[in-house]
Amino acid sequence: MQILQTAAALQAQTETWRREGQRIGLVPTMGALHEGHLQLVRAAAQHCDVVIVSIFVNPTQFNNPDDYRLYPRLPEADAELLGPAGCTALFLPTVEEMYPRPAVLHFDFGSLERVMEGAQRPGHFNGVATVVSKLFHLCRPHRAYFGQKDFQQVAIVRQLVQDLSFDLELIAYPTIREADGLAMSSRNRRLTSEARAVAPVLYQALQQAEQLVHEHAAPDAVRTAATAMLGQQPSVTLEYFEVADAVTLQPVTEWQPGQEVALCLAAQIGGVRLIDNIVAKVA
Ligand code: PAJ
Repeated sequence: MQILQTAAALQAQTETWRREGQRIGLVPTMGALHEGHLQLVRAAAQHCDVVIVSIFVNPTQFNNPDDYRLYPRLPEADAELLGPAGCTALFLPTVEEMYPRPAVLHFDFGSLERVMEGAQRPGHFNGVATVVSKLFHLCRPHRAYFGQKDFQQVAIVRQLVQDLSFDLELIAYPTIREADGLAMSSRNRRLTSEARAVAPVLYQALQQAEQLVHEHAAPDAVRTAATAMLGQQPSVTLEYFEVADAVTLQPVTEWQPGQEVALCLAAQIGGVRLIDNIVAKVA
């Protein structure tokens, strides 16, 4: 596996691969890799000739300076995991390499970003769209892999690909979980053992909500039940629990038969912010 640290080196390598007719897969990450990331890399390796993984803790998508400062950074350990998973090249740029000058362009995804993560983290999706656009331009991948764990991010990137005519196939990969249901996340490393013991309640609340959707409970009753379940845990501070249309991401007030809904939450446990979701189909 080669390690590329400059945009120019990445561009030169991917140009060569394109000329050779190799199919390029891209897996953008912020590192502190776990099995969720590695499954994306393995999926890319299965369907592409070469796989580029980027590791870049992107400052422009953090609205909380402490979250950025404390975000785990483990490039050596990450590099060791990537080769065996099928990564051909690791792109590991510095902040100066990605942002020689501050980006001025601003993305506005309209109603898609006025809810949930976009509402709670002003500027977050502008930063995501900026860095993802840069990566798409530098790599010109045939396929780009993202996790459903960040459900709204996938919707935003899908819109980005459509609006800017990126010539690639976007692959949304299912959420990988720990045995007790907790969605894998780089931030899980920051949980104390007490917080880690409580954290599976997030998935339990989602599962209960999914069950209620299948039983045709009213959307508001689903929200109330999930909020109540999470409210029983003093160490959990719920930021939002939303029942959203899986395509528009807008809050659902009435079920439509056959509709796909995304049950999405964000919560802090012992000061660590976690998100999770389940997609359910209305009968
Ligand atoms: P990061 O949080 O490192 O996640 C990188 C990719 O891995 C994302 O597409 C994310 O959805 C996926 N992922 C994370 N946890 C997962 C899990 N448990 N199961 C499946 N997939 C999972 O998301 C980002 O980085 C950044 O916003 C990025 C897209 C790299 C832009 O900076």
